[in-house]
Amino acid sequence: MSLTPSPPLPKLVVVSNRLPIAYREDSTGATIPRLSPGGLVAALAPALAGSGAAWVGWDGTFSGSEEPLDLEGFSLQPVSLTQAQITNHYEGLSNSTLWPLFHNVGVNPEYSEAWWADYLQVNRLFAQRVCNVVAEDGTVFVQDYQLMLVPEFVRSLRPDVAIGYFHHIPFPDATHVAGFEHAAELLEGLGACDVVGFQRQSDVDHFRACLQELNPSVEGTSLPHSAAYPISIDSAAVSTAASQPMVLAKAQEYATSWGNPEWVFLGVDRLDYTKGITQRLLAFEELLASGAVSADTAVFVQAGSPSRENVARYQQLSAEIDAIIERVNTTFPSVTGRPAIVYLRENLPRTDMLALFVVADVMVVSSLADGMNLVAKEFVAARHNDTGVLILSTHAGAAEQMPEALLVDSFVVSDITKVMQEALIMEKGETARRMKQLRADVAIHDVAEWATTILGDLSQARKA
Ligand code: F6P
Repeated sequence: MSLTPSPPLPKLVVVSNRLPIAYREDSTGATIPRLSPGGLVAALAPALAGSGAAWVGWDGTFSGSEEPLDLEGFSLQPVSLTQAQITNHYEGLSNSTLWPLFHNVGVNPEYSEAWWADYLQVNRLFAQRVCNVVAEDGTVFVQDYQLMLVPEFVRSLRPDVAIGYFHHIPFPDATHVAGFEHAAELLEGLGACDVVGFQRQSDVDHFRACLQELNPSVEGTSLPHSAAYPISIDSAAVSTAASQPMVLAKAQEYATSWGNPEWVFLGVDRLDYTKGITQRLLAFEELLASGAVSADTAVFVQAGSPSRENVARYQQLSAEIDAIIERVNTTFPSVTGRPAIVYLRENLPRTDMLALFVVADVMVVSSLADGMNLVAKEFVAARHNDTGVLILSTHAGAAEQMPEALLVDSFVVSDITKVMQEALIMEKGETARRMKQLRADVAIHDVAEWATTILGDLSQARKA
């Protein structure tokens, strides 16, 4: 009898609500999973590639399969979830309670006991899977608000491992968060970590204040190491991809299809009420009304990928956007019949998305609250000739790192209109100076730097 030695258990396990997988159909109609490229995948690829690492998450299906998938050197470990768990954990507690709670943009968090029960249960399932796969003294790196209890559950089963958590979204005012009935449990969940990372220093401060508010006896020294680690993009990859002939051809095709207007304004988002999409469209409406541009000289292209479509507030947003676009396009017709606002309500292929970044004159990122906003960084990484103006909300984490953007309080529609007008009259030299600096900063502070820093701090904290 020949004994095949089992492969060593992974030393690093990344955990996120979704696995980085996309599906496509092959010529026989079979569904083939592929690794979906994204910032996090790119950042963690060097650490994850090979046999020493794994990624735990939901694969987006209800197949019931928990068979590991080996894709492009990644060992992906699917956690099987039921439709009821998705309804309660993902659509319910994660995106109808915690998302509005942490973004705090005037949408009231909803709550149900059943949601909380499944949030606990799904966090336990993820933690169990992690504990089954991680090597002794290994490292567990948990991503985001859907999994805030995973660190505590992992710690109770595996005192040997190092645990890090990164909060991709904002952490607002302490009193606001502390008002949630399970806030203490969520923060205790994070208390089991060696390192807790946030996007901005203000998020760190609010997190610490919230811990103190919930438990005034807590000592500074008994808190996990918490710090700001602003996340970024794989700028070199975006920059290279944006200069490929296919992308440039698509950019040309877009411009021609819109009648080569003098000005292309662009918004690219998940269709989410935190992104300030209605505010920017209303600002464009004001710009048209002011006469500074017309539907013939300018187009606003809004790309929006449908998101969380079973959640009522997202359905409402979709209807609001449709209504504004219909009104603007009717009120401001163009001579050729091309709408003033072109709405691409779909998950665009990467080539098309990059082509939009290349063809735009003014990118408008008007989030009302946003952990970072990587679209802003992707836009500048794609601008090879140092043209293009970035309008950026002060409420996006990216604003702290991109001061050469035209910064605006995106709650005030007339202020967005004003900066749009500024973009129209900005001298070419000034535009280039700003874009050069923005590009240089994003090139240096890329996602590899983020991953190295937070994983480095995690290994230090464990040794201490
Ligand atoms: O950045 C916030 C976030 O919720 C991430 O955790 C997630 O990967 C991404 O947005 C997309 O969200 P969803 O999985 O709900 O489509």
